[in-house]
Amino acid sequence: MVSQRAADVTPFMAMDVLERANDTDDVIHLEVGEPDFSPPDRVVETAVESLRAGHTNYTAARGKPALRRAIADRYDHVYGVDVDPDRIVVTPGSSPGLLLAMATLVDPGDEVVLTDPHYACYPNFVRTVGGRVETVPLHASDGFRPRPSAFEAAVGDDTRAVLLNSPANPTGAVLSGGTLDAIVDVADAVDATPVVDEIYHGLSYDATDHSVLEYTDDAFVLDGFSKRFAMTGWRLGWVVVPPGYVDAVNRLAQNVLICAPNFVQDAGVAALETPPEHLADIRATYRERRDLLVDAVADWGLGLDYTPQGAYYLLADVSDLPGDSLAVADLLLEEAGVAVTPGLDFGERAADYLRLSYATDAAAIEEAIDRIERVLATVERA
Ligand SMILES: Cc1ncc(COP(=O)(O)O)c(C=O)c1O
Repeated sequence: MVSQRAADVTPFMAMDVLERANDTDDVIHLEVGEPDFSPPDRVVETAVESLRAGHTNYTAARGKPALRRAIADRYDHVYGVDVDPDRIVVTPGSSPGLLLAMATLVDPGDEVVLTDPHYACYPNFVRTVGGRVETVPLHASDGFRPRPSAFEAAVGDDTRAVLLNSPANPTGAVLSGGTLDAIVDVADAVDATPVVDEIYHGLSYDATDHSVLEYTDDAFVLDGFSKRFAMTGWRLGWVVVPPGYVDAVNRLAQNVLICAPNFVQDAGVAALETPPEHLADIRATYRERRDLLVDAVADWGLGLDYTPQGAYYLLADVSDLPGDSLAVADLLLEEAGVAVTPGLDFGERAADYLRLSYATDAAAIEEAIDRIERVLATVERA
């Protein structure tokens, strides 16, 4: 019999939409959370050289020393923060890093506080380790940025972790340093540990990304190569572990992960050596696409009460259209040939929204904009 924990895990609708969209001809993909760029050439070359050199055996569970050193150096360069490489555990993507963090922090029945809307998979990580999810509502009128006071109201004696994500999927909201610092204090007051997903750092358009490590050492940070370096299928990430948790995380990593792929770790070092202009160019491209989509949402007459500041997503309000966001997503796939993700994937408060991703080239986005406009022109509104 399937365990209760496994039965409680909900499907990731974006993946369901992707499967259906892949079965349909001539679909434009605004549902995917995957960069349409290629990794830097040097990264590919390094992986091939490493493979040819026979770097295909297991590594230490926590990762190769050169990569952990390079990751620690990044915290120094980007945020001016000193991180001991011993606190860094390399993982096959950031997702296993989140599983390690949750498994290390949460006992059955413990509470994890996260925002609504949130990245679709977060509650399932909590459920997988037997934890309970408590949500903090976000509001479009605040740009979907959390208020520390709302976290204060949500945390309690059972709270073991406060899970944050900035720039955020699905909203594109970016946390200011002040808000991050204040939420760290809220967590600290109830002895909860901040767990911060910084996977979209570097993809902020009108804001500065602050690492939680600028405010405390006592936090888990999840990060990786998928988004910034367009290395989704390479499966490489890391977790920065608070002092005191390192041995526990390493033991778990040894048992359940063994290690991240050896030659991919060498490619990760090359990725971290990429000149900053590479990411600056990508950022400028995403920013133009964002502006294109933000204008289009207004032209379609849908609600967008905020400017998404980072990642490559926005939430468009479709509550004036007939049916729920699932029905609207179906309509756009079937009638317009454009795949989008229904908001319900991202929490109850996103149920009236569609998530649009602009990790697709501008020509395809422009074509999608025209197609959606034509279909919405035929739909009666509330
Ligand atoms: C907020 C967030 N965290 C983590 C991930 C997963 O990243 P990885 O490929 O490093 O496992 C995603 C992927 O879409 C994401 O949006």
